[in-house]
Amino acid sequence: MSINKQRIIHNFSQSSLYSEHAIVQQKMAQVLIDFLLTHNPNVQIKHLVDLGAGLNADFTVKLLNNLASKNLASALQIDLVDLVKINSQTIDILDHTISSLQEDYKVTTYQQAAQDWLPANSKADLVISNAMVQWLADPQEFLTHLEAQVLAPHGILLFSMFTTNNFHELAAITKQSLTYYSLQQWQEMLKTSGFEIVACVEYMHPLYFASVKALLEHLKLTGVNNLAQTKWNKKSYYHFYEQYEKLRTDYGIPLTYNPLCFMCKKVA
Ligand SMILES: C[S@@+](CC[C@H](N)C(=O)[O-])C[C@H]1O[C@@H](n2cnc3c(N)ncnc32)[C@H](O)[C@@H]1O
Repeated sequence: MSINKQRIIHNFSQSSLYSEHAIVQQKMAQVLIDFLLTHNPNVQIKHLVDLGAGLNADFTVKLLNNLASKNLASALQIDLVDLVKINSQTIDILDHTISSLQEDYKVTTYQQAAQDWLPANSKADLVISNAMVQWLADPQEFLTHLEAQVLAPHGILLFSMFTTNNFHELAAITKQSLTYYSLQQWQEMLKTSGFEIVACVEYMHPLYFASVKALLEHLKLTGVNNLAQTKWNKKSYYHFYEQYEKLRTDYGIPLTYNPLCFMCKKVA
């Protein structure tokens, strides 16, 4: 199942409380930052691009707060959602973070699909993307595009997504799921597009909720509700509640995320 752009824009424009509730995505961002600090602790970033940056530019802000680099010249935020229109503080948050590192820099935001963004003379030495690429229809084409048109020679790609067992409880009940690619498929695609994989990790991150209602609320607040395309009626809603209640554990109602995180380098 693929989710269309209008649906994604709708979901993420509504989720003003995203940062508060996206604890799985925050952990993924931290895994990526740890990759960078472990494998390239003295990295100097001049041109940073965040694809699917989100309303508060969470990943860029977190990353910059962890970097020793003082050379930042530009920070580009790209998202399907108009970040500045929906959250006018996005630029202020970034300005505040970057100004503590560096005086001359430029923050730019584009409302654009990451896969359609065709930069003229991009010299990005770091492209980051947290919890976004699982929605792309053609990830292979996207990776090739990044390698050929966006990254500078030896540039770094730090990115994460969800993989095959993501939300397996929801998939079992609704028989619906995004089309996820496995770790091996991502490794193949990265190699084909000319990337060297420096580090990668796949893990399960279960969350537990007091009720099915609280779980549905979580999906809504984090914008990842891929049930949105389901045509609900009273009967199907009741069936969903009933089936999900059967999965209740001692900790509560489970929802399991299956993240996959990569640090890669453009080979030449
Ligand atoms: C789960 S949020 C992640 C936000 C942020 N990267 C973080 O670390 O929390 C995914 C973001 O990707 C954006 N997005 C989804 N598909 C996109 C696409 N094809 N191009 C650009 N942005 C996209 C959504 O609008 C949303 O803001």
